[in-house]
Amino acid sequence: MSLFKLSPYSLKEKKGKEPIVGITAYDYTSARIVEDAGVDFILIGDSAAMVMLGEEDTFSMDMDKMLIFCKAVSRGAKDTLRIGDMPFLSYHLSKREAIYNAGLFVKEGRCHGVKVEGGEEVASTIEAIVNAGIPVLGHIGLTPQRSMELGGLKVQGKTIESAKKLIKDAKVLESAGVFAIVLECVPAELAKVITEEVEVPTIGIGAGKFTDGQILVFHDVVGLFPEMRPKFVKTYVYGFEALSAAVKMYIKECKSGIFPSEKESYKIPEETLKEILKE
Ligand code: KIV
Repeated sequence: MSLFKLSPYSLKEKKGKEPIVGITAYDYTSARIVEDAGVDFILIGDSAAMVMLGEEDTFSMDMDKMLIFCKAVSRGAKDTLRIGDMPFLSYHLSKREAIYNAGLFVKEGRCHGVKVEGGEEVASTIEAIVNAGIPVLGHIGLTPQRSMELGGLKVQGKTIESAKKLIKDAKVLESAGVFAIVLECVPAELAKVITEEVEVPTIGIGAGKFTDGQILVFHDVVGLFPEMRPKFVKTYVYGFEALSAAVKMYIKECKSGIFPSEKESYKIPEETLKEILKE
């Protein structure tokens, strides 16, 4: 395994050469699946709060839970670049605490970098984390940890003012040292402008086809989260329905005596059976 492949800076090399493909994962099994499929990087996203823990949003996520998810993904996808998502309040209180928490993603979660939500307002914190030797992936546009301020989970950058702010945020994040920037729920043409304005790769989620790469939530790609199917998601398999059908079949076969059959049963040697039946 080339160590460079596991460096977030390997993504920078791909800008303008080949599309970058990322996906989220949260546990050992999903990590094995996405590594086997050959993604360029894995984000252990704080979306785990919703798709793994059934919370309504990501605010309740904390460092302890994130580290459990990161450790599991690191065991399942040893040879893939892994980025941990810094949860709400893990980088807001002080730069010292932000560096410490980012460090835990590397030290305990075995991640190769962290993602931080926000633009200009978090740039100096990002700079401090980068200066501590921890690569940072920026995230602007729809930032769910700021959804209260944004007035919900809405497409961003539709007005002149907000579009200009996003362009500025991207440039500020680049100067702060991020290795790439996630653009979430941004009109495609604006994502194109941002992609052309910065030298680091842009990774879109709901940001159209002109970004340097794409990322989606694992559960959306494999159809395991039917509660929410945003417009920008493409579902490649209806996993919830397929798995539910399999479990229904299991219940039916148990109830009707088809399962377990001889094939799924262990045998006892005949003499042993005779002996115990005598007693
Ligand atoms: O938490 C997450 O899954 C994310 C992606 C949607 C980019 O931040």
